[in-house]
Amino acid sequence: MLASAEAARFVLVSKAQLFKPKYPRSKERLIGPWALFFHQGGYHSIVRKLVQSSLSPESIRRLVPDIDAVASATLRSWDGHMLSTFHAMKEMSFDVGILIIFGEHLSKQRKNEIKRNYFIVDKGYNSFATSIPGTAYSNAIKARKRLGEILSEIMEERRENKTMEKDLLSCFLEWKNDKGERLSDNQISDNIFGVLYAAQDTTASVITWMVKYLHDDPKLLDAVKAEQMTIYKRNGCGSQQLQWAHTRKMPFTQRVISESLRMASIISFTYREAVADVEYKGYLIPKGWKVMPLFRNIHHSSEYFPDPHKFDPSRFKSSPKPNTFLPFGNGVHSCPGNELAKIEMFEVVGSHSEVEYSPFPIPKHGLQVRLWSTEQADGIAE
Ligand code: HEM
Repeated sequence: MLASAEAARFVLVSKAQLFKPKYPRSKERLIGPWALFFHQGGYHSIVRKLVQSSLSPESIRRLVPDIDAVASATLRSWDGHMLSTFHAMKEMSFDVGILIIFGEHLSKQRKNEIKRNYFIVDKGYNSFATSIPGTAYSNAIKARKRLGEILSEIMEERRENKTMEKDLLSCFLEWKNDKGERLSDNQISDNIFGVLYAAQDTTASVITWMVKYLHDDPKLLDAVKAEQMTIYKRNGCGSQQLQWAHTRKMPFTQRVISESLRMASIISFTYREAVADVEYKGYLIPKGWKVMPLFRNIHHSSEYFPDPHKFDPSRFKSSPKPNTFLPFGNGVHSCPGNELAKIEMFEVVGSHSEVEYSPFPIPKHGLQVRLWSTEQADGIAE
């Protein structure tokens, strides 16, 4: 376990070729073995480029009005209801993931079918891996198979109708190398599912924590609100794209987002495996041993972040020391979805038309949320 910034950089960046990503087999089976997380080298870089191009700031800019509509619908659905912020945010990030992958042309029926099966997989992901029928894991395996079939049907339809869009699925379907080789259906569906999975819980958890941090500190919330109002008054609200451009001019909100990412550190660590004997500062990491860079420990070290347990966005007035702020990882496997995740965070914190700040961030007519404590990682406490 590596808890220093320097050691994490050694594994993830400078000697990345000596450490391959290695996840528990039960998880690999559920996501799909062709998903880019599990690969290194040529195949990884082809898939990664395709994912990156669909998640580039340019591509996201095009989708901002749709992302905005999804976020507004989620916030409206809170109106007067008692529900869990996390679950509402999961719905939202799922819908945004679907948008990035399939564009706007997925029928409601298909979307619901994907959603139903996706949430069965989600439920089984962290459960005990067994093939005993009726258990969460074996249900998840079945649902994952059904998802693969649904994705194959969608791919077939797109090929037949020759409908190519500017979404991630089309990027995968259109890709071929100079020998004319294409990605197989399995490769595409494992990566589609992988991106959907990577995009969902992560974004939903960080947003939930951010809502809690803002709720706990009304002064902070007022400052965020004041910054947004100043920018909108100065520039006018304009189109959603314009509003998005304005987010770049909101340093205070940016800092709140960074501090939420640091404090929550929802990806607490990642997995790698040494492909050869590796020596680090006199220690031997034997071939085949697992290596875990611990992002949370780095983010919560007082050496890098003084008074680390305090939520204090002002610490981001100056840039953190190199390689100490890694909410999106580092190196060749770092998160290609980071811009999208930040946009979703902005959408929630900055939906000035939907949220009343009085002084708490409440959807119109009141917000009732459930929060869960770190001690109860498995359960949800109100
Ligand atoms: C706040 C939200 C998010 C956080 C904190 C987060 C964090 C991370 C981290 C730490 C990694 C690196 C894992 C490693 O090195 O093993 C990663 C990888 C990845 N993330 Fe995210 N992520 C978020 C949102 C998203 C979104 C919205 C998407 C896609 C739409 C996404 C897609 C991916 C993919 C595809 C990878 C694998 C990249 C590769 O292996 O080359 N993530 N993410």
